[in-house]
Amino acid sequence: MKWKIYNHPGFYDRYMKRMAGWIEVYRERELVRVLDQCINDNNIVLDIGCGTGANCILLGKRYQNARIVGIDINPDFLGYAERKISDAGIKNVKLIRQDITGCTRESISKDRIDIAICILGLSVITDWEKAIERIFAILDPGGNFIVFDLYIDTQTFMGKLSNFLTGLFFGAHHDRMILNRLRSSFIETDTIKIDVKPESGTALFIFRGRK
Ligand SMILES: C[S@@+](CC[C@H](N)C(=O)[O-])C[C@H]1O[C@@H](n2cnc3c(N)ncnc32)[C@H](O)[C@@H]1O
Repeated sequence: MKWKIYNHPGFYDRYMKRMAGWIEVYRERELVRVLDQCINDNNIVLDIGCGTGANCILLGKRYQNARIVGIDINPDFLGYAERKISDAGIKNVKLIRQDITGCTRESISKDRIDIAICILGLSVITDWEKAIERIFAILDPGGNFIVFDLYIDTQTFMGKLSNFLTGLFFGAHHDRMILNRLRSSFIETDTIKIDVKPESGTALFIFRGRK
């Protein structure tokens, strides 16, 4: 639906900066720590559901010898991300418009794909289980998948309300059992879980798994 926040890249960016600044803190602190453990020079890094390009910019600046490929289904977000990446003078990022659930290895790169990240994406992508299946297929053996997302325990009234509101405004479903599904596909190497809003049972998790 057109009015949802994720269809308006400028609004999404402003919201993340002003209202969800705490997510940005974890992105820059905890996520970077996990990324540093597995990204090397010359790696190809896929940013699945790259949105307005926050992670592409972070990756492009931090790992200047890696090649970053941002994938998103939404052309408005991609256009907006393209401008931000160009304004930041970053040259090692390429953006592709694709639905990850229909992606093939060949449609992305002929070279080895070592790392995929999906930040706040699996809670939004409609067929998120299919997305995990495709990402597993696209990565080369030994490749890492890093997921940063939110989980809301909907057993409580506050949890239910919180999940309903994020669904309404972001199209996000934070009650999905993403961690369980990831654990059944990848070899889990690291998981961080942080209780960020105990009153609504909201936790942030970072999963790192190997194919
Ligand atoms: C909540 S945003 C997250 C954006 C960004 N990763 C971040 O950290 O701010 C989720 C993104 O997933 C994208 N998306 C949703 N379904 C998708 C699909 N099937 N294939 C690729 N991208 C998809 C949306 O267009 C949106 O940009």
